[in-house]
Amino acid sequence: MLSGKVVGIIGAGNMGEVLIRGLIQSGKVKKTDIIASDISKDRLEHMSKTYGVRTTSSNVELVENASIVIIAVKPQNIDVLLDELSNSSHEGHLFISIAAGITTEKLASKMHHQSGIIRVMPNAPASVLAGIAAVCPGRNISSSDLQRALSIFECVGRAVVIKNEALMDVVTGLSGSGPAFVFLVIESLSDAGVQLGISRKESSLLAAQTVYGAAKMLLETGKHPSELKDIVATPGGTTFAGLKMLEKGNFRSTIMDAVEAATARSRELGSPLNSRKKE
Ligand SMILES: NC(=O)c1ccc[n+]([C@@H]2O[C@H](COP(=O)([O-])OP(=O)(O)OC[C@H]3O[C@@H](n4cnc5c(N)ncnc54)[C@H](OP(=O)(O)O)[C@@H]3O)[C@@H](O)[C@H]2O)c1
Repeated sequence: MLSGKVVGIIGAGNMGEVLIRGLIQSGKVKKTDIIASDISKDRLEHMSKTYGVRTTSSNVELVENASIVIIAVKPQNIDVLLDELSNSSHEGHLFISIAAGITTEKLASKMHHQSGIIRVMPNAPASVLAGIAAVCPGRNISSSDLQRALSIFECVGRAVVIKNEALMDVVTGLSGSGPAFVFLVIESLSDAGVQLGISRKESSLLAAQTVYGAAKMLLETGKHPSELKDIVATPGGTTFAGLKMLEKGNFRSTIMDAVEAATARSRELGSPLNSRKKE
């Protein structure tokens, strides 16, 4: 799927590095088939020393040498980058952008009309190979192109296809912002343990492993969350006493409101009027 392809990564920052490491560790792409570009010479030196990948300070040179190009710069740097690349893209190029809020239409408007465009929303746990990425096909995407994009993000976790691009803001609100919501849940569980006498270290471990284990159980059994909740909550037991308090505090609707608010903010930042104020 990816073997023999040269993968270019424009923007060797946090997410660029996570992808480079994941691609190499998975064995799907050889380090000599990866090129990274960045405006920072220090970042390029770090990439070449740490991972042995090829580097260049010229985005145009990268595009001329790679058939799959991952755009991993911040949204506010996209306009300058697209102008720079507009004459270098060609038929057969697959561009995969992870820039939050940048639409496939905007990307396509500056690229060669026969190049392929995919928009992806990864999330922070990709850094520990437990990410979830939503992959949204844009213009000129074959099923092999889509499989290639999925294969890249599966190097750092899991990936799903979202065909309706309007839903990418919802993805941003759910899995993009979601890790922060879950950190808050973990912190609250841990605080409760500390308040009730457990040391911070043990309490945090108990809380984090509980969240990790619950998510793993759900993913591995494929069961509905409410079915698993019933396995833990025996009639008249301790868990029901806690669940009742969560209902009283509108826990579920508060979480739903949080995702809705993050989605609304993503839409707001993505509107053309705000294109210069993003992130
Ligand atoms: N980090 C996440 O968890 C996450 C999750 C989902 C989506 N994303 C998306 O991923 C993208 C990258 O995020 P990040 O956190 O990795 O950002 P980052 O650490 O700032 O990395 C971006 C890199 O691109 C460089 N750069 C800026 N303009 C450039 C240009 N014209 N050509 C080449 N390189 C350029 C930056 O250099 P300077 O620092 O010198 O400007 C920086 O080294 C963003 O669009 C973000 O929306 C990130």
